[in-house]
Amino acid sequence: ASPRLLDGHGRHIHYLRVSVTDRCDMRCTYCIPEGFRGFEEPEHWLTLDEMARLVGVFVGMGVNKVRLTGGEPLLRRGVTGLAATISALPGLQDLSLTTNASQLHRMAQGLKDAGVSRLNVSLDSLRRERFAAITKRDVLDDVLRGIATASRVGLAPVKINTVVQAGVNDDELDDLVAFALEHGLILRLIEPMPMGHTGQAATGLDLTQRGAELAQRFGLIPEADPMAADSSARSALEAPGAGPARYWHAPKSAARNSTAGRMSLGVITPLSQHFCATCNRVRLGVDGTLYLCLGQNDAVPLGRQLREGASDADLRDAILQALAHKPERHHFVETPGQIVRFMSQTGG
Ligand code: GTP
Ligand code: 5AD
Ligand code: SF4
Repeated sequence: ASPRLLDGHGRHIHYLRVSVTDRCDMRCTYCIPEGFRGFEEPEHWLTLDEMARLVGVFVGMGVNKVRLTGGEPLLRRGVTGLAATISALPGLQDLSLTTNASQLHRMAQGLKDAGVSRLNVSLDSLRRERFAAITKRDVLDDVLRGIATASRVGLAPVKINTVVQAGVNDDELDDLVAFALEHGLILRLIEPMPMGHTGQAATGLDLTQRGAELAQRFGLIPEADPMAADSSARSALEAPGAGPARYWHAPKSAARNSTAGRMSLGVITPLSQHFCATCNRVRLGVDGTLYLCLGQNDAVPLGRQLREGASDADLRDAILQALAHKPERHHFVETPGQIVRFMSQTGG
């Protein structure tokens, strides 16, 4: 049996999110600050070999689920090769990637061949001008083509992440649900979190309520609440793909396009209803910094230790010690403005 990593609160940590670049070709204000441009690789970034070694240490300790994020991970040179190395690690069950899909059309097949099992795509609007206003790039067509290609090569079902901002795109949720139904996608509506000096503007939406209204209007069926004490739902959190979202599902027959799979709607509500009690994850920044919680500043410089000659056993010790101090939860609501790094640096 593979080892089980527990944190100081008894939570089973088996999911590692790795930011492979802090750069992006889009500029969503809730995610990335000005700067972080240019695609030369700074010296403090881990090489892909160094990253693979760190990920290997985690997988050897019981992590079975890895997600590559960024910034925009598809802009990191060699990312497909890194995916192939990670997906071949014994014990790994699920390798996924979160992307803005600007490069996805040309990369989807390679990612599939490298062992990536599924993709989450950020998409806040289906309206060309609004998409360009949010991302500062007029590339909605590329993104939609990327999503279609990913589904076609078998990276399905694609999950769409929509950060819902009051007064910006919250009038578009019906269209997004209809789009997801038509193409058999999983749509998740996300409350923006205050990271760095971003994410602040548009808080205050209760997406649990909005999700329930949409589900009723579109005839979607609620899934058992994973936060409920009932343990069958709770063990679903251990399955690949289990994450912070709470879901409603379409009846299979609801797909308008007969080749599309079953659509689901999810809400991710870190502010109105946080899910920290079931947290299963930690994060690696592009320089190998281990971030213990998305909403806390606690961090351990594993990358630096690796470059100073740490052995795998040293790294394992450092990881165990760090996990014992993983914070219980974030305090985005009680003390907003506490997080000094941007989402683009930790990959969500
Ligand atoms: P799955 O494995 O597909 O369930 O992925 P995921 O939902 O964990 O990952 P994704 O990268 O698609 O992130 C979706 C949203 O959830 C983003 O807004 C993330 O910032 C947010 N999110 C992911 N993990 C955490 C977390 O541990 N805490 C909080 N507060 N938000 C998170
Ligand atoms: N709050 C919530 N979600 C965010 N994302 C980026 N920044 C924020 C934020 N401040 C989302 C992106 C991406 C996912 C990894 O995180 O939309 O899909
Ligand atoms: Fe886990 Fe921290 Fe995210 Fe809460 S905010 S779910 S404790 S990483």
